[in-house]
Amino acid sequence: MNIELLKKLTECFSPSGREDRIRDIIKAEVEPYVTDVWTDALGNLICHKKGPGKKLMMAAHMDEIGFMVTHIEDSGFLRFVNVGGISAYNCINRAVVFENGTVGVISYENKEKAASAGLSQMYIDIGAKDKAEAEEKVEIGSMAGYKGELSLMGELATSKTMDDRVGCFVLIEAIKAAKESPNELFAVFTVQEEVGLRGAKTSAFAVEPDMGFAIDVSMTGDTPESSFASLSLGKGPGIKLKDASFIINPAARDFAIKAARVAEIPYQLEAAAYGGTDAGAINLTRGGVPAGTISVPTRYIHSPQEVVSLSDVENSITLVTKMIETAI
Ligand code: CO
Ligand code: ZN
Repeated sequence: MNIELLKKLTECFSPSGREDRIRDIIKAEVEPYVTDVWTDALGNLICHKKGPGKKLMMAAHMDEIGFMVTHIEDSGFLRFVNVGGISAYNCINRAVVFENGTVGVISYENKEKAASAGLSQMYIDIGAKDKAEAEEKVEIGSMAGYKGELSLMGELATSKTMDDRVGCFVLIEAIKAAKESPNELFAVFTVQEEVGLRGAKTSAFAVEPDMGFAIDVSMTGDTPESSFASLSLGKGPGIKLKDASFIINPAARDFAIKAARVAEIPYQLEAAAYGGTDAGAINLTRGGVPAGTISVPTRYIHSPQEVVSLSDVENSITLVTKMIETAI
Protein backbone atom coordinates (compact mmCIF):
# COMPACT_ATOMS: atom_id res chain seq x y z
CA MET A 1 0.00 0.00 0.00
CA ASN A 2 1.13 3.52 -0.82
CA ILE A 3 1.41 4.71 2.80
CA GLU A 4 3.44 7.71 1.68
CA LEU A 5 0.46 9.00 -0.30
CA LEU A 6 -1.95 8.39 2.59
CA LYS A 7 0.45 10.29 4.84
CA LYS A 8 0.68 13.19 2.40
CA LEU A 9 -3.10 13.39 2.04
CA THR A 10 -3.88 13.24 5.76
CA GLU A 11 -1.20 15.73 6.75
CA CYS A 12 -2.31 18.33 4.21
CA PHE A 13 -4.02 21.52 5.46
CA SER A 14 -7.46 21.92 3.83
CA PRO A 15 -10.45 22.81 6.02
CA SER A 16 -13.85 23.34 4.37
CA GLY A 17 -13.67 26.21 1.89
CA ARG A 18 -9.84 26.05 1.66
CA GLU A 19 -9.38 22.86 -0.34
CA ASP A 20 -6.76 24.25 -2.75
CA ARG A 21 -3.78 22.34 -1.40
CA ILE A 22 -5.40 18.93 -1.17
CA ARG A 23 -6.94 19.42 -4.62
CA ASP A 24 -3.50 20.03 -6.16
CA ILE A 25 -2.15 16.81 -4.64
CA ILE A 26 -5.11 14.74 -5.81
CA LYS A 27 -5.15 16.25 -9.29
CA ALA A 28 -1.50 15.36 -9.85
CA GLU A 29 -2.16 11.76 -8.76
CA VAL A 30 -5.29 11.17 -10.84
CA GLU A 31 -4.73 13.19 -14.02
CA PRO A 32 -2.68 10.54 -15.93
CA TYR A 33 -5.43 7.93 -15.41
CA VAL A 34 -8.54 9.78 -16.64
CA THR A 35 -9.82 11.43 -19.81
CA ASP A 36 -10.19 14.93 -18.41
CA VAL A 37 -10.15 16.79 -15.11
CA TRP A 38 -11.66 20.12 -14.15
CA THR A 39 -12.42 22.21 -11.09
CA ASP A 40 -15.88 23.74 -10.80
CA ALA A 41 -16.92 27.10 -9.34
CA LEU A 42 -17.13 25.81 -5.75
CA GLY A 43 -13.80 24.00 -6.02
CA ASN A 44 -14.88 20.39 -6.58
CA LEU A 45 -12.32 18.37 -8.55
CA ILE A 46 -14.20 16.42 -11.20
CA CYS A 47 -12.25 13.56 -12.83
CA HIS A 48 -13.97 12.12 -15.86
CA LYS A 49 -13.11 8.82 -17.51
CA LYS A 50 -14.90 8.00 -20.74
CA GLY A 51 -16.85 4.78 -21.06
CA PRO A 52 -19.68 3.39 -23.16
CA GLY A 53 -22.23 2.99 -20.36
CA LYS A 54 -24.24 4.99 -17.85
CA LYS A 55 -22.88 7.69 -15.58
CA LEU A 56 -21.41 6.49 -12.30
CA MET A 57 -20.41 9.13 -9.75
CA MET A 58 -17.98 8.22 -6.97
CA ALA A 59 -17.47 10.99 -4.41
CA ALA A 60 -14.92 11.50 -1.65
CA HIS A 61 -14.72 14.79 0.22
CA MET A 62 -11.47 16.70 0.32
CA ASP A 63 -12.26 19.06 3.20
CA GLU A 64 -11.54 18.58 6.89
CA ILE A 65 -13.18 20.06 9.99
CA GLY A 66 -11.47 23.17 11.33
CA PHE A 67 -11.58 26.49 13.14
CA MET A 68 -12.11 30.11 12.05
CA VAL A 69 -10.91 33.19 13.93
CA THR A 70 -13.78 35.53 14.88
CA HIS A 71 -12.07 37.95 17.26
CA ILE A 72 -8.57 38.84 18.44
CA GLU A 73 -8.33 39.85 22.11
CA ASP A 74 -6.12 42.74 23.26
CA SER A 75 -4.04 40.09 25.03
CA GLY A 76 -3.30 38.34 21.71
CA PHE A 77 -5.53 35.31 22.29
CA LEU A 78 -7.89 34.34 19.46
CA ARG A 79 -11.58 33.55 19.74
CA PHE A 80 -12.99 31.20 17.12
CA VAL A 81 -15.93 29.27 15.76
CA ASN A 82 -16.00 25.72 14.51
CA VAL A 83 -16.10 24.86 10.81
CA GLY A 84 -17.91 21.52 10.80
CA GLY A 85 -18.43 19.11 13.68
CA ILE A 86 -15.90 20.09 16.33
CA SER A 87 -16.65 18.97 19.88
CA ALA A 88 -15.18 20.95 22.76
CA TYR A 89 -13.69 17.97 24.61
CA ASN A 90 -11.85 16.83 21.49
CA CYS A 91 -10.07 20.13 20.94
CA ILE A 92 -9.00 21.26 24.43
CA ASN A 93 -5.21 21.49 24.71
CA ARG A 94 -4.72 20.34 21.14
CA ALA A 95 -2.37 21.89 18.60
CA VAL A 96 -3.76 23.53 15.48
CA VAL A 97 -2.04 24.98 12.44
CA PHE A 98 -3.05 27.90 10.21
CA GLU A 99 -2.64 28.11 6.45
CA ASN A 100 0.55 30.18 6.78
CA GLY A 101 2.10 27.67 9.19
CA THR A 102 1.28 29.56 12.41
CA VAL A 103 0.84 27.03 15.20
CA GLY A 104 -1.57 27.49 18.10
CA VAL A 105 -2.88 25.60 21.10
CA ILE A 106 -6.58 25.55 21.93
CA SER A 107 -7.47 25.88 25.59
CA TYR A 108 -10.32 27.17 27.77
CA GLU A 109 -11.17 29.78 30.38
CA ASN A 110 -10.16 28.32 33.69
CA LYS A 111 -13.39 29.21 35.49
CA GLU A 112 -15.06 26.22 33.83
CA LYS A 113 -14.32 22.55 34.20
CA ALA A 114 -12.92 21.30 30.91
CA ALA A 115 -15.85 18.93 30.49
CA SER A 116 -18.42 21.75 30.59
CA ALA A 117 -16.51 24.34 28.57
CA GLY A 118 -18.12 25.21 25.24
CA LEU A 119 -16.29 26.66 22.25
CA SER A 120 -17.35 30.17 23.33
CA GLN A 121 -15.26 29.74 26.53
CA MET A 122 -12.28 28.62 24.51
CA TYR A 123 -9.48 30.39 22.70
CA ILE A 124 -6.41 29.75 20.55
CA ASP A 125 -3.03 30.70 21.98
CA ILE A 126 -0.56 31.42 19.17
CA GLY A 127 2.11 32.74 21.51
CA ALA A 128 1.44 36.40 20.69
CA LYS A 129 2.05 38.88 23.52
CA ASP A 130 -0.67 41.28 22.35
CA LYS A 131 -3.20 41.98 19.62
CA ALA A 132 -0.70 43.72 17.34
CA GLU A 133 1.64 40.74 17.41
CA ALA A 134 -1.24 38.31 16.79
CA GLU A 135 -2.36 40.39 13.80
CA GLU A 136 1.02 39.87 12.18
CA LYS A 137 0.12 36.18 11.89
CA VAL A 138 -3.66 35.92 11.61
CA GLU A 139 -6.75 37.99 10.88
CA ILE A 140 -10.51 37.63 11.29
CA GLY A 141 -11.50 34.72 9.06
CA SER A 142 -8.15 32.91 9.21
CA MET A 143 -8.70 29.17 9.34
CA ALA A 144 -6.88 26.44 11.21
CA GLY A 145 -7.00 22.66 11.22
CA TYR A 146 -5.67 20.11 13.68
CA LYS A 147 -1.91 19.66 13.56
CA GLY A 148 -0.69 16.10 13.37
CA GLU A 149 1.09 13.33 11.55
CA LEU A 150 0.15 9.92 10.33
CA SER A 151 1.37 7.21 12.72
CA LEU A 152 1.21 3.44 12.37
CA MET A 153 -0.09 1.29 15.25
CA GLY A 154 0.65 -2.20 13.97
CA GLU A 155 -2.07 -2.95 11.44
CA LEU A 156 -3.88 0.30 12.32
CA ALA A 157 -3.06 3.87 11.36
CA THR A 158 -4.00 7.14 13.02
CA SER A 159 -4.08 10.68 11.67
CA LYS A 160 -5.98 13.95 12.03
CA THR A 161 -8.01 13.70 8.84
CA MET A 162 -8.82 10.11 7.97
CA ASP A 163 -12.23 11.81 7.49
CA ASP A 164 -12.12 11.87 4.59
CA ARG A 165 -8.60 11.74 3.19
CA VAL A 166 -8.73 7.97 3.54
CA GLY A 167 -11.79 8.07 1.26
CA CYS A 168 -9.85 10.25 -1.21
CA PHE A 169 -6.97 7.75 -0.99
CA VAL A 170 -9.29 4.80 -1.69
CA LEU A 171 -10.80 6.55 -4.71
CA ILE A 172 -7.41 7.65 -6.11
CA GLU A 173 -5.94 4.15 -5.78
CA ALA A 174 -9.07 2.58 -7.30
CA ILE A 175 -8.90 4.92 -10.32
CA LYS A 176 -5.28 3.87 -10.80
CA ALA A 177 -6.07 0.15 -10.41
CA ALA A 178 -9.20 -0.05 -12.58
CA LYS A 179 -8.49 -1.86 -15.85
CA GLU A 180 -11.80 -1.24 -17.58
CA SER A 181 -14.31 1.60 -17.64
CA PRO A 182 -17.70 0.23 -18.75
CA ASN A 183 -19.43 3.24 -17.15
CA GLU A 184 -18.97 6.91 -17.84
CA LEU A 185 -17.02 7.51 -14.62
CA PHE A 186 -17.12 10.77 -12.71
CA ALA A 187 -14.79 10.58 -9.72
CA VAL A 188 -15.56 13.74 -7.78
CA PHE A 189 -13.39 15.01 -4.94
CA THR A 190 -15.86 17.28 -3.21
CA VAL A 191 -15.57 20.45 -1.14
CA GLN A 192 -17.42 21.52 2.01
CA GLU A 193 -18.93 18.16 2.99
CA GLU A 194 -18.33 18.90 6.65
CA VAL A 195 -20.54 21.99 6.56
CA GLY A 196 -23.49 20.36 4.82
CA LEU A 197 -22.61 18.26 1.74
CA ARG A 198 -22.36 21.43 -0.33
CA GLY A 199 -19.85 20.36 -2.99
CA ALA A 200 -21.65 17.08 -3.64
CA LYS A 201 -24.88 18.97 -4.14
CA THR A 202 -23.59 21.20 -6.93
CA SER A 203 -21.32 18.62 -8.59
CA ALA A 204 -24.04 15.97 -8.73
CA PHE A 205 -26.38 18.52 -10.29
CA ALA A 206 -23.80 19.20 -13.01
CA VAL A 207 -22.80 15.56 -13.57
CA GLU A 208 -26.36 14.14 -13.59
CA PRO A 209 -25.25 10.63 -12.57
CA ASP A 210 -27.35 7.48 -13.06
CA MET A 211 -25.96 6.14 -9.79
CA GLY A 212 -23.70 7.60 -7.12
CA PHE A 213 -21.66 6.52 -4.13
CA ALA A 214 -19.87 8.41 -1.42
CA ILE A 215 -16.71 6.93 0.04
CA ASP A 216 -16.37 8.14 3.61
CA VAL A 217 -15.45 7.12 7.12
CA SER A 218 -18.01 5.60 9.48
CA MET A 219 -18.09 5.04 13.23
CA THR A 220 -17.29 1.65 14.74
CA GLY A 221 -18.77 0.03 17.84
CA ASP A 222 -15.71 -2.03 18.74
CA THR A 223 -14.18 -0.08 21.64
CA PRO A 224 -14.86 -0.61 25.39
CA GLU A 225 -18.50 0.12 26.22
CA SER A 226 -18.96 2.05 23.00
CA SER A 227 -22.42 3.04 21.90
CA PHE A 228 -23.98 0.59 19.52
CA ALA A 229 -22.63 0.65 15.98
CA SER A 230 -22.33 -2.43 13.83
CA LEU A 231 -18.92 -1.81 12.25
CA SER A 232 -15.62 -3.15 13.59
CA LEU A 233 -12.11 -2.40 12.42
CA GLY A 234 -10.51 -5.11 10.32
CA LYS A 235 -13.67 -6.77 9.01
CA GLY A 236 -13.76 -5.01 5.67
CA PRO A 237 -15.44 -1.93 4.24
CA GLY A 238 -18.97 -1.06 5.30
CA ILE A 239 -21.83 -0.92 2.85
CA LYS A 240 -23.96 1.72 4.52
CA LEU A 241 -27.68 1.16 4.18
CA LYS A 242 -28.84 4.22 6.09
CA ASP A 243 -27.78 7.25 8.07
CA ALA A 244 -29.46 10.58 8.78
CA SER A 245 -28.85 11.77 5.22
CA PHE A 246 -30.04 8.87 3.03
CA ILE A 247 -31.52 5.40 2.75
CA ILE A 248 -29.73 3.31 0.17
CA ASN A 249 -31.52 2.65 -3.07
CA PRO A 250 -32.01 -1.12 -3.62
CA ALA A 251 -30.22 -0.96 -6.99
CA ALA A 252 -27.21 0.74 -5.36
CA ARG A 253 -27.24 -1.78 -2.50
CA ASP A 254 -27.31 -4.77 -4.85
CA PHE A 255 -24.59 -3.28 -7.04
CA ALA A 256 -22.24 -2.71 -4.08
CA ILE A 257 -22.87 -6.11 -2.47
CA LYS A 258 -22.41 -7.93 -5.75
CA ALA A 259 -19.11 -6.11 -6.38
CA ALA A 260 -17.87 -7.11 -2.90
CA ARG A 261 -18.80 -10.76 -3.52
CA VAL A 262 -17.19 -10.86 -6.96
CA ALA A 263 -14.07 -9.21 -5.55
CA GLU A 264 -14.08 -11.81 -2.74
CA ILE A 265 -13.46 -9.31 0.03
CA PRO A 266 -15.05 -9.22 3.47
CA TYR A 267 -17.66 -6.48 3.92
CA GLN A 268 -19.99 -5.30 6.68
CA LEU A 269 -23.57 -4.12 6.34
CA GLU A 270 -24.23 -1.01 8.32
CA ALA A 271 -27.30 0.97 9.37
CA ALA A 272 -26.47 4.16 11.26
CA ALA A 273 -28.75 6.39 13.32
CA TYR A 274 -26.69 9.54 12.85
CA GLY A 275 -24.29 11.18 10.47
CA GLY A 276 -24.41 12.03 6.83
CA THR A 277 -22.32 11.62 3.72
CA ASP A 278 -22.22 13.05 0.21
CA ALA A 279 -24.64 10.24 -0.76
CA GLY A 280 -27.37 12.27 0.95
CA ALA A 281 -26.86 15.13 -1.49
CA ILE A 282 -26.35 12.94 -4.56
CA ASN A 283 -29.54 11.00 -3.74
CA LEU A 284 -31.68 14.15 -3.84
CA THR A 285 -30.24 15.62 -7.03
CA ARG A 286 -32.63 16.70 -9.80
CA GLY A 287 -35.27 13.96 -10.18
CA GLY A 288 -33.40 11.69 -7.74
CA VAL A 289 -30.31 9.46 -8.07
CA PRO A 290 -29.89 5.92 -6.66
CA ALA A 291 -27.11 6.43 -4.12
CA GLY A 292 -25.18 4.64 -1.41
CA THR A 293 -22.07 4.91 0.72
CA ILE A 294 -18.97 2.76 1.02
CA SER A 295 -17.57 3.22 4.53
CA VAL A 296 -14.06 2.91 5.82
CA PRO A 297 -14.63 1.84 9.45
CA THR A 298 -13.04 4.46 11.71
CA ARG A 299 -12.60 5.01 15.47
CA TYR A 300 -12.67 8.46 17.12
CA ILE A 301 -14.17 10.32 14.15
CA HIS A 302 -13.82 14.12 14.27
CA SER A 303 -11.03 13.89 16.83
CA PRO A 304 -7.40 14.74 16.02
CA GLN A 305 -6.58 11.01 16.14
CA GLU A 306 -8.90 9.11 13.86
CA VAL A 307 -7.97 5.42 13.57
CA VAL A 308 -8.46 3.03 10.63
CA SER A 309 -7.31 -0.49 9.78
CA LEU A 310 -4.97 -0.80 6.81
CA SER A 311 -6.58 -4.10 5.77
CA ASP A 312 -9.95 -2.29 5.59
CA VAL A 313 -8.36 0.41 3.47
CA GLU A 314 -6.89 -2.22 1.13
CA ASN A 315 -10.22 -4.04 0.87
CA SER A 316 -12.02 -0.73 0.25
CA ILE A 317 -9.68 -0.04 -2.67
CA THR A 318 -10.42 -3.52 -4.07
CA LEU A 319 -14.18 -2.96 -3.69
CA VAL A 320 -14.23 0.49 -5.28
CA THR A 321 -12.00 -0.76 -8.11
CA LYS A 322 -14.46 -3.58 -8.78
CA MET A 323 -17.38 -1.14 -8.71
CA ILE A 324 -15.64 1.10 -11.25
CA GLU A 325 -14.99 -1.95 -13.46
CA THR A 326 -18.62 -3.14 -13.32
CA ALA A 327 -21.40 -1.78 -15.52
CA ILE A 328 -24.21 -0.26 -13.43
CO1 CO B 1 -16.66 14.27 8.86
ZN1 ZN C 1 -16.48 12.56 6.15
